[in-house]
Amino acid sequence: MKRKALIAGNWKMHTTVMDACHLAADIAGRCTDISDRDVLLAPPFTVLSEVSHVIRESPVMVGSQNVCWEEKGAFTGEISPVMVKDAGGGAAIIGHSERRQIFHEDDALINKRLRGSLKFDLLTILCVGETLEEREENKTFEVVEEQIRSGLAGVGAAQMAKVVIAYEPVWAIGTGKTATKEQAQEVHAFIRNRIETMFEKSIADQLRILYGGSVKPDNVDDLMAQQDIDGALVGGAALDAESFGRIIHFR
Ligand code: PGA
Repeated sequence: MKRKALIAGNWKMHTTVMDACHLAADIAGRCTDISDRDVLLAPPFTVLSEVSHVIRESPVMVGSQNVCWEEKGAFTGEISPVMVKDAGGGAAIIGHSERRQIFHEDDALINKRLRGSLKFDLLTILCVGETLEEREENKTFEVVEEQIRSGLAGVGAAQMAKVVIAYEPVWAIGTGKTATKEQAQEVHAFIRNRIETMFEKSIADQLRILYGGSVKPDNVDDLMAQQDIDGALVGGAALDAESFGRIIHFR
């Protein structure tokens, strides 16, 4: 089954308005020929609308790095799916390991965010992945399975069309230490198998599973050649238009 690749850039807490506009324009300029793959930028909330404006005539999509489950209300420090859409966004990343680890977001909160994101029809990227300690204790599959089960609790089969899963081993994020293509493929195949058990084969076949964790121009081709790797969630290398452009044009 051929799934359309998705290359997503997570800008984390980087870029001023000016940096963001330049970077987005440079990336969009490298995406004129990308009809066979999707490209998504997830900049900070403060520049969502500027970035949306800059890429409006390109095939590049924009999304947020997190989202609340409510449309509006007393949720200091949060941003709603309606606000993301109003700013020109069409997607949200949920459950990134930095949200889980630094800001203590647990599986229940992540599930709430994910369902809120889907309710407002955003393309929703659920991030999962084990820590180094968990991998060394042979708990990778157990941890990833639990993150998927609880993250997707209450999600209907029809909503799965808007879900993307990103496997991001915590030990590979921002460390320059990528999972080998075999390690990544093994977990991706496991995730697809679990989704088949939870839903059905056609949903598992259509689900895009991205790899994240030190994806760079020099390792993207090997990763993308794996059967169950359908794209990449890129941090550091997404802040450099040349590197990200090369990753988008993986072979
Ligand atoms: P990295 O980040 O590419 O810098 O490792 C990936 C991520 O956190 O999504």
